[in-house]
Amino acid sequence: MFVAANWKMNLDKNSIFEFSKHLNNFKFSSKVEACIFPPMTYIDYLNSLISKLPISVGGQNCHYKKSGAYTGEVSPLFLKDTGCKYVIIGHSERRILNNEINDEIKLRAQSAINSNLKVILCVGENLIDHQKGSAFKFVEKQLLESLPDNFENLLIAYEPIWSIGTGKIPSVNVIEEMHQHIKKFISKKTNKKVKVLYGGSVNPENINNILNIVNVDGVLVGGSSLNVKDFLAIYSAAVKHLDKF
Ligand code: 13P
Repeated sequence: MFVAANWKMNLDKNSIFEFSKHLNNFKFSSKVEACIFPPMTYIDYLNSLISKLPISVGGQNCHYKKSGAYTGEVSPLFLKDTGCKYVIIGHSERRILNNEINDEIKLRAQSAINSNLKVILCVGENLIDHQKGSAFKFVEKQLLESLPDNFENLLIAYEPIWSIGTGKIPSVNVIEEMHQHIKKFISKKTNKKVKVLYGGSVNPENINNILNIVNVDGVLVGGSSLNVKDFLAIYSAAVKHLDKF
């Protein structure tokens, strides 16, 4: 079980310091893996504040080149060097706002894996495709075109765009079927099992329902992960969920 916190472009140094105090007073379980993705500038800082905790840090993106004249980009090697274990690749906000296309996302994912980072590759349909009933097709195309050639250290996050930050989440059946579809598609293509996280308006109120869905291996949380109490409530729900088995 995996709980990932994508802070996006939120929380400054003071807020991170306050957040970390609560983390350091909390008893984490070895059963649930947690990773926080802070803004790039604070990866090192957060890492130093939580170094004794079983929580990893990750980058929200990385370039496919290891170094060079790419102003404003970050190398996967630098993420690794600064203590990152994971990197998110192909988040819909980067696809939309930074025009990242599948081909480029594939290169980024591949380069990150080759740099010994674990990749959370994001996929998910927009509202129109959801309403048209073509979500499976949309996600399949994203996978077909952006899956890296090296599948070790790869997780998928299913994040329907229409669910991100809106408070709307797909039905239990839709999430279950989509996760199954993603797993089947990848195992057919690669013979490998992959973990699939759900992301989109996850909060302490709906976390239990989401964790109860077959084929959900964890969550990628945005807004609710900015509040330490909510983040720890989501984490605790994941621990309790596993205690049932
Ligand atoms: P919200 O949890 O704010 O909907 O964001 C989800 C997300 O984009 C995580 O990557």
